[in-house]
Amino acid sequence: MFGIVKIRHEEKPRYEVTRFPVGGCRNIIEEQEGVSFKMKKLFITGTDTGVGKTLVAAGLLHALAQQGKRVLGVKPLASGAEMTPQGARNDDALLLQSAMNVEVPYETVNPLLYEQPMAPHLAAQSLGQTLSVEALMASMQPALAIETDYTVVEGVGGWLVPLNPRETVADFAKTLGFDVILVVGMRLGCLNHALLTHQAMVAAGLHCAGWVANIIDNNMLALEENLADLQGLLPVPLLARVPFLEVPTPEQAATYFSELP
Ligand SMILES: Nc1ncnc2c1ncn2[C@@H]1O[C@H](COP(=O)(O)OP(=O)(O)OP(=O)(O)O)[C@@H](O)[C@H]1O
Ligand SMILES: [Mg+2]
Repeated sequence: MFGIVKIRHEEKPRYEVTRFPVGGCRNIIEEQEGVSFKMKKLFITGTDTGVGKTLVAAGLLHALAQQGKRVLGVKPLASGAEMTPQGARNDDALLLQSAMNVEVPYETVNPLLYEQPMAPHLAAQSLGQTLSVEALMASMQPALAIETDYTVVEGVGGWLVPLNPRETVADFAKTLGFDVILVVGMRLGCLNHALLTHQAMVAAGLHCAGWVANIIDNNMLALEENLADLQGLLPVPLLARVPFLEVPTPEQAATYFSELP
């Protein structure tokens, strides 16, 4: 049985935010008990479901860990679980966990898990539950309380996946307030999806730290022309161009980052 974990809201930390004009990542200087440390917090979204958010997020975690950074990956909401001797597990969360270097319980990486691999609000509905930004934020408190150099959160599906009739993943991203990385699954239709998603995140007042071209269609026609168009049209840095990988692993994906956020 899976369900929503209710955790009491804790007092929000105090932040001092420095914005870079284009691209780059905001430095979040967090103060706790008089000690301040820099944390970078990133939200990974994509042009659709199945476009490589998890692979790119895990690749980024691996690349940052190789540079000696303390990194945590989070998949706050997942649908699709396998039963293991340790309990129910989600593939995305396990891949993120394999690439990060902070030891935390599985439930901190993936606090909300639904068994059925379907749109998460429908999976919740099938159990008589309702998802909400408030519930997601509450479930993420243990992860947000962990001191890291980078906390990388993977979204669910695309940018406007509904949580309930009034809220979407975009509202969750907005409430988190993290910088966003857009993973573009390079295939026919990606120009429209990439531009719509970028426009929506800007309209939400969020800062896009960059985008990743993830080549999921090995036979895409006019790939170079599509890439050139996106580089011209998206006003944020291209952080990585990940080719179609025969064996897509975080270690492999990590090698294609030309710029780290
Ligand atoms: N560059 C690539 N080369 C080959 N396979 C890839 C590549 N990127 C992603 N894949 C594969 O495509 C599938 C979907 O990728 P991934 O799970 O990262 O997508 P996602 O956007 O996180 O999906 P979801 O919306 O379900 O979370 C996985 O099997 C992954 O290994
Ligand atoms: Mg995923």
